[in-house]
Amino acid sequence: MAGEKRRRPITACHAQFQGAISQFLNREERQWSDVVSYAGEWDQDELESFPMRASCIKPSTKIENLNITLRVRLLRYIFDSLPEFEEAVEAFDRAHLLEPKVCRVKEIIESIEMYKFVRDFLLSLQHRKHIDRVLDVACGHGLVGILLARRFPSLQVTSLDLVARPAFDVFRDGWDASMRERGQRSLGNVEKLEGDFRDHLELVTETTLVLSVHGCNEVNNLVIETARSRSAAWAALPCCIRDSLFLPSSKVHLMDGCAAKASKYFREFQGVRHAFFCGCMMEKYEAERLSMYGGRAHNYLQILRSMDSRITDKGIFLAGGRYISVCGPLSLRRALRGKMKLGTPYTVEWNIKRLAA
Ligand SMILES: C[S@@+](CC[C@H](N)C(=O)[O-])C[C@H]1O[C@@H](n2cnc3c(N)ncnc32)[C@H](O)[C@@H]1O
Repeated sequence: MAGEKRRRPITACHAQFQGAISQFLNREERQWSDVVSYAGEWDQDELESFPMRASCIKPSTKIENLNITLRVRLLRYIFDSLPEFEEAVEAFDRAHLLEPKVCRVKEIIESIEMYKFVRDFLLSLQHRKHIDRVLDVACGHGLVGILLARRFPSLQVTSLDLVARPAFDVFRDGWDASMRERGQRSLGNVEKLEGDFRDHLELVTETTLVLSVHGCNEVNNLVIETARSRSAAWAALPCCIRDSLFLPSSKVHLMDGCAAKASKYFREFQGVRHAFFCGCMMEKYEAERLSMYGGRAHNYLQILRSMDSRITDKGIFLAGGRYISVCGPLSLRRALRGKMKLGTPYTVEWNIKRLAA
């Protein structure tokens, strides 16, 4: 039908391939590159092939619950998403062999997507701000911090949570073993710390990037406010946001007739509500984002990035830092009011501290 998106068939679907993979998975000596490159490139529409809850991947599904075809497709997703790490597929496979109970498909995919956001944000900061530590607050399984530690060996990554989850050790050991096998150094630059962020605020300095990946309610605000008060950079993927955090005297109501939790309107409302409150956070905390056009970096104030809503319905990524560059009439108006220093004719840079003064 005209205009309808054509869905690619899952390349690895035929029985012969499945048989070969089953045998392969049972072998002791595995060469992942053989399997993964045999299967075709990852197609984002394949997300819907995984077990779904409502419109996103079911959170409880683990790698061990997938059939062989889907398992290979997940590995192909990892292979295509992390081309900078030759051991990526093997590292996740090792983690799965070490402790299958912790390898949840949704957590793996959403962490890889979040890692890509934060990686790009860190790269965008590198000529404007020195960062030597990443503090992954409310890290849970800690995968985002582990991937960042692998990508940026000169950064010290501290993964902090009220409760240290065994998944952290499983993922780190999986990566460590795969790297060592290739003669690479092990992941010595990531450490886990059990405790309340409020007791470790001293870890946030001007050279820290503080993360809040699916932190809930006050945690996000505390992370961003602490980062801003210490001129640190921050990045957040907010999870639950209570009305009172941004609209203390109002409530965001469902329209009449949509209140049933099973109704698709209820889910749509939840998505709109979440985006609405992320907008409030962006405005309040002056979020920023970097885009590349024609090889030149421009920063746009208050533009956000989000991940595919089939991965998570809480997929809006916000980030900010000490220095912000903006383009367009808003920046020029502010510059004309004398609050900012003009850089090039098109780019204006200013220091938030100076603005706050
Ligand atoms: C929804 S989970 C997110 C975990 C992980 N980042 C992820 O993306 O799956 C929220 C986590 O926040 C942690 N947490 C809540 N309050 C915290 C605090 N004050 N300090 C440190 N961790 C906190 C909880 O222990 C929990 O692991």
